[in-house]
Amino acid sequence: MKVTVVGAGAVGASCAEYIAMKNFNSEVVLVDIKEGFAEGKAMDLMQTASLNGFDTKITGTTGDYSKTAGSKVAVITSGIPRKPGMTREELIGINAGIVKEVTQNLVKHSPDVIIIVVSNPMDTMAYLVHKTSGLPKERIIGMGGALDSARFKYRLAEALDCPISDVDGMVIAAHSDTGMLPLLSKATRNGVSISEFLDESTQNNLAEATKVGGATLTKLLGTSAWYAPGAAVSVLVQSIVCDQKKMIPCSVMLDGEYGESDICMGVPCIIGKNGIEKIVDISLTDSEKESFATAAKAVREVNGDLGF
Ligand code: NAI
Repeated sequence: MKVTVVGAGAVGASCAEYIAMKNFNSEVVLVDIKEGFAEGKAMDLMQTASLNGFDTKITGTTGDYSKTAGSKVAVITSGIPRKPGMTREELIGINAGIVKEVTQNLVKHSPDVIIIVVSNPMDTMAYLVHKTSGLPKERIIGMGGALDSARFKYRLAEALDCPISDVDGMVIAAHSDTGMLPLLSKATRNGVSISEFLDESTQNNLAEATKVGGATLTKLLGTSAWYAPGAAVSVLVQSIVCDQKKMIPCSVMLDGEYGESDICMGVPCIIGKNGIEKIVDISLTDSEKESFATAAKAVREVNGDLGF
């Protein structure tokens, strides 16, 4: 199957690399606006194929969307990343124009495509794709919760001093420093609630570290992260291409679920060959419900800047 990744920068190239390394997909097309950049990244990645043992074909193009025709999945990573001290929301002015134009080009050549939105502010960019693409809502998936949940599990394993494979946890709501909701009430170590192992203050500290996980890395790196975002996208793409029906928190258009409508927010979803196959209704505590509603209010305010 053909998978297109728009934006051959840090996150886009990392997506292509992880998709190829997992060797589940036949073809990845990288697209960028910078002359020769996607072609160069594709060639460099292809020269790792014999070393890393994958058969996926990676090609690149400078803006020729005819090369993306017939894509099953397209990942939008084009746009600017944040610099230290910036919020994701500050990127909206530039990224909205880019995401809108890219979406139109993708849909023109691949009317049946499933779009994964990565560019920030992601929940608002996913909303923009809904408003401008004409695609059914099952085929627009915002990537945030997969990454934030991986960061949550990293913090859980760190606090519990145990292997990452022993812990489980999920982050829902908004992909923003204040709007993320790590579900402490559902987090487990070997199936047992973390409240059996960690006091409340430790739990709150690790939830806070999860929420500012992106900002912490941006400060260290001078730009936003790429390995974990690329890996998170590859998990979503694999669940679609291989019809794995994994439950992954994604930003999706809500129509009454979790008490919200006409907004893209992170909620647990079953992801398979049709895109979002089901929104899973998990029970939230009263305080989690309140946090979800507060996060939704903030996302709505940012969406207001799009002018719909
Ligand atoms: P980057 O600057 O390394 O790469 C962006 C690429 O997009 C550049 O190569 C640029 O030439 C290209 N581009 C710009 N306009 C384009 C257009 N119209 N068509 C095609 N390509 C175009 O940035 P990076 O680090 O890869 O981040 C990309 C985006 O992903 C940012 O908005 C960042 O905030 C976001 N991000 C989102 C995450 C999430 O969890 N949703 C995680 C990490 C980053």
